[in-house]
Amino acid sequence: MHNVHGEIRRWLEPLGACVRVDAVGNLRAVYPASDAPASTVMIGSHLDTVPNAGAFDGVLGVVLAVACLEALGGERLPYAIEVAGFSEEEGVRFGVPFIGSRALVGRVDQGLLSLQDARGISVREAIQDFGLDPQELGQARLRPETCAYLEFHLEQGPVLEKLGLPLAAVEAIAGQSRYELTFLGRSNHAGTTPMDLRFDALAAAAEWILLVERLAKSTAGLVATVGSIEAQPGATNVIAGEARLSLDVRHGDDAARKSAVDSLVQQAREVGERRGLSVRAAQRLDQSAVPMDAFLTAQLEETLRQTGCPPRRMVSGAGHDAMILAEKVPSAMIFLRTPGGISHHPAESVAIDDVAKAIEAGLHLLHQIAPTLRSRTCRA
Ligand code: GLV
Ligand code: MN
Ligand code: MN
Repeated sequence: MHNVHGEIRRWLEPLGACVRVDAVGNLRAVYPASDAPASTVMIGSHLDTVPNAGAFDGVLGVVLAVACLEALGGERLPYAIEVAGFSEEEGVRFGVPFIGSRALVGRVDQGLLSLQDARGISVREAIQDFGLDPQELGQARLRPETCAYLEFHLEQGPVLEKLGLPLAAVEAIAGQSRYELTFLGRSNHAGTTPMDLRFDALAAAAEWILLVERLAKSTAGLVATVGSIEAQPGATNVIAGEARLSLDVRHGDDAARKSAVDSLVQQAREVGERRGLSVRAAQRLDQSAVPMDAFLTAQLEETLRQTGCPPRRMVSGAGHDAMILAEKVPSAMIFLRTPGGISHHPAESVAIDDVAKAIEAGLHLLHQIAPTLRSRTCRA
């Protein structure tokens, strides 16, 4: 990440931006306004990835922010532009997503700082190991003059490709729940323990994973995923005494998501009870669905029209830093068509023409909103 920050700094500084890394490891760069004092428009996305990721989820949005500044060709607007490259959006390392953007809205608390990764390193220690000071988190907060947040991102699904459209405006982002679920049984010898005398944590986990899939398939609008599983002690000839699983549940409607989560945790307990195992369920995230700002989204649609793209609104099934920023500042998102709808995979890609359209739309938007922003401030 230090190398990534260094690379992006080398692009931003010649454009006249003042670059820093804040206390949670977000890259922050301010391109000054034509006159001070002025409001600020933030444009950002995240710089971390999932394991074995594609090259665009997150970083494309940061590169597009830099590209918009570059396309201004030295022109200063009546507001400052702050480019943000967020850290830890995916939640891979600590099980909790959006850690970087949460610092901007004051939502990195002691509980979050104490969470540990698989090697027992806490968020607090990871921040220190990166050369930063967790005591200074206050300096990562949004500048109070921030009046809008804009994020470019891949759609990461097949909808725009199917419609033959390069870009869309995001009207809302679906909520998500994340859990760590552990089945606790008893490990024993695989050759000598009869089948009816086992407390096999991995077999219990397998049974429950199929229940997760069944509920999601039979509930409209629900997606639910067990994406990671770890068995202990993890040997061919030992019955697993412990199985630790991740659970990711999403729905556009918060009540439907919560009811699905309750039912899945209950089903895990029932599987455990029937098999003589205990079950531990730890919530890692309960993020409500978030609408994007109506005014900015309407402006965005107008700019899509001006760039020759039929305006289209859609709901994002993926989570984004915009859903965190939206708590404090009017936020909008532009989606780019994703070839094959493939993401979180090395085959993820984007068409150069679509990227060019996105820059064009971004520039239109920056000019179009200029007169409306003078009197706006955020709720930081
Ligand atoms: C982010 O990629 C997410 O999990 O939605
Ligand atoms: Mn992602
Ligand atoms: Mn992303």
